[in-house]
Amino acid sequence: MSRLDQRIAVVTGAATGIGRATALEFAREGALVIGADVDTDALAETRQAIVDIGGRAETLFLDVADEDSVTTFAAQLRETHGHIDVLFNNAGVDQEGGPLHEYPTELFDRILSVDLRGTFLVSKHLIPLMLDAGGSIINVSSMSGLAADLDRSGYNAAKGGVTNLTKAMSIDYGRHGIRANAICPGTIETPLVDSLAGSEDEASGQQFRDAQKWVTPLGRLGTPREMARVAVFLASDDSAFVTGESILADGGVMAYTWPGKMLFESGWKPAS
Ligand SMILES: NC(=O)c1ccc[n+]([C@@H]2O[C@H](COP(=O)([O-])OP(=O)(O)OC[C@H]3O[C@@H](n4cnc5c(N)ncnc54)[C@H](O)[C@@H]3O)[C@@H](O)[C@H]2O)c1
Repeated sequence: MSRLDQRIAVVTGAATGIGRATALEFAREGALVIGADVDTDALAETRQAIVDIGGRAETLFLDVADEDSVTTFAAQLRETHGHIDVLFNNAGVDQEGGPLHEYPTELFDRILSVDLRGTFLVSKHLIPLMLDAGGSIINVSSMSGLAADLDRSGYNAAKGGVTNLTKAMSIDYGRHGIRANAICPGTIETPLVDSLAGSEDEASGQQFRDAQKWVTPLGRLGTPREMARVAVFLASDDSAFVTGESILADGGVMAYTWPGKMLFESGWKPAS
């Protein structure tokens, strides 16, 4: 018996990266996966990948930042399935915008509207589908929701909000048997990192990855599947008494007080 047999699991941002990997992992564990995204072409590839491993998947267009789109999505789920068991709030965007006094207000609004407001909207309209039987909500925050990055105040504000919104959900719905937890990934090799820093083939992307490996105690970036395994834990009964928690999965980056010897000892720098 797999850990998510008989469960219906919604995954937002399922077209690429952590969302696709989690959709696949949920399907491997026996769930019927409802993958949702704005990018319907890439979403179809996720669906095919699930079918190829013998899993069950449905896909639907969803713009988490648009409440009409979210209510339509919720109505479709209610009509076809009546309830859901797992909600993986993962859709997100990120972009550098400069120091706060130069940070474009439109960028701040866009990141907040997808990463934070999107998590709120999808939860607001899908929680009614969990009220009868309970379930598990997993919000994808970030280590950037626990501390800050240069030039990324919008993302830091959004993910900080997601971390605390998770606690609010756990309190509001504990008596309904709905748990809510967050995953705070470190730097994970996905298209988002390519768009922020450049791909592995580009000099800027290579430099970024080298620096990330250097500051990460485990000496490497994380993989989408490693985040997906944490999501399986939080979705399953293995975490039955865990709620309101944020789990860091960052290779140890946030374990530092400051980089200390790393700044001076050349032995630290080579990580690969
Ligand atoms: N990759 C990392 O290093 C990292 C680190 C910490 C947190 N995260 C978070 O993990 C989540 C997944 O990111 P990823 O790295 O897999 O990036 P990604 O760009 O590969 O995936 C993000 C997905 O969200 C979708 N999306 C964007 N806007 C949407 C919207 N309005 N409605 C529906 N779908 C939308 C995209 O189409 C894409 O499929 C994000 O919330 C991100 O902030 C990523």
